[in-house]
Amino acid sequence: MTHSVDTPFSDFDSAMIQRCLVLARRGMGYTSPNPLVGAVVVQGETIVGEGFHPKVGQPHAEVFALRDAGEKATGATIYVNLEPCNHQGRTPPCTQALIKAKVRKVVIGMIDPNPLVCGTGIQTLRDAGIEVVVGVEEAACRRLNEAFIQRVVQQRPFGILKYAMTLDGKIAATTGHSSWVTGTEARSWVHHQRAIADAVIVGGNTVRQDNPFLTTHGVSDRQPLRVVMSRRCDLPVQANLWDIKNAPTVVFTETDQNLALQQTLQQQGVEVVTFPTLTPEVVMESLYYRGFSQVFWECGGVLAAAALKSGAIQKVMAFIAPKIIGGQEAPSPVSDLGLQQMNDAIALKDVEMQAIGSDFLVTGYI
Ligand SMILES: NC(=O)c1ccc[n+]([C@@H]2O[C@H](COP(=O)([O-])OP(=O)(O)OC[C@H]3O[C@@H](n4cnc5c(N)ncnc54)[C@H](OP(=O)(O)O)[C@@H]3O)[C@@H](O)[C@H]2O)c1
Ligand SMILES: [Zn+2]
Repeated sequence: MTHSVDTPFSDFDSAMIQRCLVLARRGMGYTSPNPLVGAVVVQGETIVGEGFHPKVGQPHAEVFALRDAGEKATGATIYVNLEPCNHQGRTPPCTQALIKAKVRKVVIGMIDPNPLVCGTGIQTLRDAGIEVVVGVEEAACRRLNEAFIQRVVQQRPFGILKYAMTLDGKIAATTGHSSWVTGTEARSWVHHQRAIADAVIVGGNTVRQDNPFLTTHGVSDRQPLRVVMSRRCDLPVQANLWDIKNAPTVVFTETDQNLALQQTLQQQGVEVVTFPTLTPEVVMESLYYRGFSQVFWECGGVLAAAALKSGAIQKVMAFIAPKIIGGQEAPSPVSDLGLQQMNDAIALKDVEMQAIGSDFLVTGYI
């Protein structure tokens, strides 16, 4: 079945862009600040070349796909989930590579939100006499690169608040004990998410209470930057996060707080960054300038509330474990937001729910 006359896309076009997205995902965790991109070269209805952007600093997806196709690129159609770049970056512009390879047609998932590109890649291709089609599977393309879009448009990383709570809305027992709220499948899912995040953030209290590792626990060789936000810097001298053999750690704190511990941490190779006032905003700004796109907030309710209030969170991933712990004082995922009426509540959009092992994952956008 083909789509209606005003959309010039076929089911084959959709399938090829979906294939681009599958290829693009292979770069997850390695491309920031670049986007996730896959490309497929087609002659008739036969794939003759494929590629993806594997890592920042490496050639772009189109270049790999053209190389893979070789001479078969001449007169071919190339599918790519993001508009080809048109400016000299770390690598030469892909538009020139496509023109040189003499492709006949370029089918694009979404226009590049980067103001340096935005539509100019398409124009350059059209000026060279190449047919260009835009907007195939656009929603799926935007979803895959949601963190890149946030980075480019807002000049801030994409913040994801992740937590695990019991059916009665507690993230720990009254004692603060929280290992584990969810089962092994959900925890393994979190390890996979860390493998594709640029940074994972917790607050000082979580370090004191849980002594977390925040690593990928064997699901990937890749580790995110582990970030601790502590205003007081009243942190333990011994902690799993201070072992930086397998994963780096940075402590963001306030100037002049517990200088002795700051020095001890630095001697162990933990990076310490200070601000006059520590807020989620200054941390996200700092992570943006490190080239990060995707930041995973795995903090408790106090820091989660501060992050939500400051606009550092764009997406929520909440695990619900079908168990009840009770406790008047047991902490919940988000502490005070200063909201008085239920109709002031932050309503999530595009909400989805899935079962993971014995737990449920609710995902939605702010
Ligand atoms: N189930 C889950 O998903 C989950 C996840 C994480 C934590 N937890 C549980 O949550 C509890 C801890 O909760 P929490 O809310 O205290 O967690 P938290 O993640 O430690 O966040 C609070 C801490 O963040 C630091 N912070 C830095 N800048 C801040 C700012 N601008 N505003 C507010 N805080 C800032 C402060 O550290 P300093 O005091 O060092 O200055 C503060 O104590 C523990 O029982 C832990 O087990 C559960
Ligand atoms: Zn490119």
